[in-house]
This record gives sequence, structure tokens and C-alpha cells, in this order.
Amino acid sequence: MSAVYSQLTGLLSSTYDWFFSALWVIESERNDAKVNVYRKTIWPDISGKVLELGPGYAQSLQFLKHATLKDGSEAVDPTAIKSYTVIEPNTFLYGGLQKNAELNGFHVSYDTLSYPEGASITTMASGDENVPFKIVKGSLDDPDNIPQAVLDEAPYDSILTSFSLCTVRDLETSLANIFKLLRPGGTYYFIEHVRQPEPGDPLVIEDNGVNARFWGKFQDFLNPLWKVIGHGCHINRRTGETVANMGCWETVDYKNVRPTIDLQSRIMPLSFGKATKPLN
Ligand SMILES: C[S@@+](CC[C@H](N)C(=O)[O-])C[C@H]1O[C@@H](n2cnc3c(N)ncnc32)[C@H](O)[C@@H]1O
Repeated sequence: MSAVYSQLTGLLSSTYDWFFSALWVIESERNDAKVNVYRKTIWPDISGKVLELGPGYAQSLQFLKHATLKDGSEAVDPTAIKSYTVIEPNTFLYGGLQKNAELNGFHVSYDTLSYPEGASITTMASGDENVPFKIVKGSLDDPDNIPQAVLDEAPYDSILTSFSLCTVRDLETSLANIFKLLRPGGTYYFIEHVRQPEPGDPLVIEDNGVNARFWGKFQDFLNPLWKVIGHGCHINRRTGETVANMGCWETVDYKNVRPTIDLQSRIMPLSFGKATKPLN
């Protein structure tokens, strides 16, 4: 009975993964049109050994520093980015993820320990200036079970999340692992959709006349249904404040914004910014 149950839940979960990968092709374009303006402000600072959690189709890569390589191709700048590791649980996204990484001049490989199927996937041949890009299957939801390939590259100079902390199973553990995987002095960059800032929260810009108290409560009400429809996405996490309240960062610099005046600004305001790990 329990074998049948686990087969059924496995099937349901991979159907959901497939559905999300198809939906995100369309939805990410709509999302990007609203949020790229914020990504542009901090993403070019990302440098060194980089880890991205939940990259989807890696919409963020175009905003990294680019350069013209010796062979004349435009690619992510190898003097700024040394390596790029992504940790992504949904394998249906890997085709688009690989394509986008190669378009940005990365040399893609798969971690075959977490994703043995990766051994038979063909990737584009690259020169020695193309920055390595490793796709690892997994998450940072478990404090004692970080994928080995992610640990092998640690510590990282930069870690980023973009609209993925809404979906991780355990927000606090994922953030604690991000902190752990950064080098001293390293930086965590984020842009996430969040619960309406509480009245009195100091960091609201672009007020747009939104009744934050009402819409915050509406987000709380909607969240159980939203999680089912949105593949585990929480619409009411206070991610910026959660980062700031961890108490372990040297500096946390973020803003809450409402990017538009439509329904999305009422149910999906954003927190974006960065946090730096102390040097010792
Ligand atoms: C809304 S998409 C955002 C994709 C991309 N970062 C972007 O900005 O377009 C959420 C991403 O988080 C991933 N994700 C879901 N659950 C996760 C988990 N527990 N740990 C890490 N990533 C997860 C999804 O597979 C997906 O790639």
C-alpha cells in the first residue's frame, strides 16, 4: 500500500514539475518585464564563485558582467565570474536552463552524482575562457544534506536567489545554508516576491496608495490555495525581514517595492537587495 502511495505521490509531483516548467516559459517573460529593472541595479555586482538556488531558466544570467572573449564571442566575463553552480530540483527545467547558460557563453556540465541522467546529455564545446556552469539536482532545505557538488565548490563569493525563496520548503533552513556556504565577506543577492510590508516597516518605496494591511491579510487568506496552484509557492513570506532578522549578517541592504499599480502590486510586492557575511 505504501509503495503504491509513494508511486502515486511521485507521479503527481513530477506532473506538477512538468506543468510548472511549461507555465514558466510564458510566465517568466511577464515577470521579467516587471522586475528586470530591479535585477539590473544589483546583479552586475555578482562576482567570483557563484551559487544560484532555484534558477528556473536562469533569467538572471543576462545581467551578469559580459565581455568579448579572444575568439570574438560575447560571453559572461571570465575575469568577473570564476564559476557558476546552480541547484535546481525540477529536472524539466534543465533543457531551457542549459540553453540559456550556453547562450551566455557558459560551459555547462551536470553533476552526475545528483543527476546521473546528465552523463548522456550533450553540451556545447567551449574554450578555456568560457566560465564553468554546473547543474546540480537538489535544494538547500535540509541542514544535514547539502548536495556534495555544492559543498565541493564552497565557499562561494556570491549566492543569489530570484523568486525561489517563495517556493523552498523551509525558508529559514535555506537561508541558514546560504549563509553557511558563503565565504567570510561574501554577499547574498536576492529579489523575491513577499507579503505586503507591515504599516510602519521602514523600507517601503513606491507606495501607490495600496492599503497594505488589507492586502497583507488577503495574502494570508489566499496562501493555502496559492500554494496548491503555485507548486508550493508562498504568497505571504516576509523574506526581506527574515533575512534582516537572522542577526548574523554584517550588513543587510534591501528595499520593499510595489513595481506596478495593478493587482500584482497588491498580492506580489517585492523585496530586493543584498546581505554581506562578516569577515570573521
Ligand atoms: C518562480 S521560479 C523562479 C525561477 C528563476 N529564479 C527566475 O527568477 O525566473 C521558482 C524556482 O525555484 C525552484 N524551486 C522550487 N522548489 C525549490 C526548493 N525546495 N529549493 C530550491 N529551488 C526550488 C523551482 O523549480 C523554480 O526553478
